[in-house]
Amino acid sequence: MINGTRKINRTIRWGMVGGGSTSQIGYIHRSAALRDNSFQLVAGAFDIDAQRGKNFGTQLLVAEDRCYPDYKTMFLEEAKRSDGIEAVSVVTPNGTHFEICKAALEAGLHVVCEKPLCFTTSEANILVELSKKYNKIVGVAYGYSGHQLIHQARDMIARGELGEIRMVHMQFSHGFHSEAVELQNESTRWRVDPKIVGPSYVLGDLATHPLFLAETMLPGLRIKKLLCSRQSFVKSRAPLEDNAYVLMEYDNGAMGHMWCSAVNAGCMHGQIIRIIGSKASLEWWDERPNQMKYEIQGQPAQILERGMGYLSPRALEDDRIGGGHPEGLFESWSNLYWRFAVAMDATDRKDDKFLSTFWYPDLHAGVEGVKWIENCVSSADKGAIWVDYK
Ligand SMILES: NC(=O)c1ccc[n+]([C@@H]2O[C@H](COP(=O)([O-])OP(=O)(O)OC[C@H]3O[C@@H](n4cnc5c(N)ncnc54)[C@H](O)[C@@H]3O)[C@@H](O)[C@H]2O)c1
Repeated sequence: MINGTRKINRTIRWGMVGGGSTSQIGYIHRSAALRDNSFQLVAGAFDIDAQRGKNFGTQLLVAEDRCYPDYKTMFLEEAKRSDGIEAVSVVTPNGTHFEICKAALEAGLHVVCEKPLCFTTSEANILVELSKKYNKIVGVAYGYSGHQLIHQARDMIARGELGEIRMVHMQFSHGFHSEAVELQNESTRWRVDPKIVGPSYVLGDLATHPLFLAETMLPGLRIKKLLCSRQSFVKSRAPLEDNAYVLMEYDNGAMGHMWCSAVNAGCMHGQIIRIIGSKASLEWWDERPNQMKYEIQGQPAQILERGMGYLSPRALEDDRIGGGHPEGLFESWSNLYWRFAVAMDATDRKDDKFLSTFWYPDLHAGVEGVKWIENCVSSADKGAIWVDYK
C-alpha cells in the first residue's frame, strides 16, 4: 500500500526535455514523477519554442535561469552546478529520442524516455552501450505496465492458473484519427510524418504498448516469426500505416495477434489484452482498468477487482486506496516512476543484486519495441509475408 511513503530516502533532482504547455503527455510525466516525492522538478527545456518553454517552466515553479532554450544547453549548464539534475525525462516527438537520450547518458544522467525509444536496433544498441559505460538507467514510459492487474496476471500465469499458454491477443485501436485530423492538429501532424516518426505510425505509437503488457505478463515468451499487414486508410498518410494486423508465432508454439489502429471509428481507446491458456483466459481493458476477467473453461466467469485482498502480494504492493475506488492511468504511471526512482538509486549505489530481480520497464523493454517495429515493417514491406524474427 502506497500512502505517499517515499520508496527511497533521497529526492532525485529531475529535469524534462519537452512536455511543454502544448504537449499531450508532459503533464502525466510530472504528475507521476512528483506524486510520491521521489523526484523534484528543478530544470527543463520544455518546448521547441524557447520563450514558450520558459513561460511554462516558471509557472511550474522552476527557477527562470533553469528553464533552458534547448536540451544541449540544459545538460551543459546543469553539469556545472553542484545541485544539477541527476535524471531527465525525454518527452518530445519520436525522431528526437535517440539524440537526446544519447546526450543525456553522455552527460551522466539517468533517463526516462518516451516510446519508441529510437528507430533502429543499431541506435538502440548504442544506448545500451552508453547505459553500461556511464552506469545510468534508461526507463521507458510504457504507462499501463505499472497497473496492478497487469502484475496480477503475470503472477497467475506464472502459477499455471491458465494452463499452457496458447494465444495472446493484443489490441490498441482507437478512432480519433479516422479522418485526416493532422491537417488541423500540430500534435497529430508529426505522428504521420516519416521524417519525425521513422518507419511506422500506429505500430510504434500504439502497438508497442500492448506488446509490452504481453511481455510483462509473459516474460518467458519469445517471438519466432511474424507477419504484418499494414494499411493507410487515410490515403495522405501513406507510406505510414493508420491500421495494422500482426500475427506472431512464439517459440513454444503459442500464437499472438496484434491489432493496432487509429481509425477504429467510434472507439475511445481500445487497449485490450487477452491471454488464453489451455484451462482459462484472462482479459484486461484499459477503459475499465479496475476489473480483469478471469474465465475458467466450464465455470461461470469471474471479475477480479483491483485492490482486493484475494490478489497476489505483488499486485497489492502498488495499491494506493484500496478496492472500490478506481485507479487507472495516473496511478499506473506513478507506479512506474517510483520504480524508476528506486532503480536509479540502486544503480547509483551499484546494488546489482537488487537490480537483478527488480522489475521496471527498462532499456531492454525499449530495445524490444524497436526490434519488433523493424520486423513488422520488414514483413509488411515485403508484401505481408512471414519473416523470421531477428
Ligand atoms: N506513453 C504514452 O502513453 C504516450 C502517450 C502519448 C505520447 N507519447 C509519446 O510522448 C512523446 C511526446 O508526445 P506528445 O503527444 O506529448 O507530443 P506533442 O507534440 O503533443 O508535444 C511535444 C512537446 O515536445 C516539445 N518539443 C518538441 N521538440 C522539442 C525539442 N527538440 N526540445 C524540447 N522540446 C521539444 C514541444 O514543444 C511539445 O511541448 C512521443 O514520443 C509520443 O510517442 C507517449
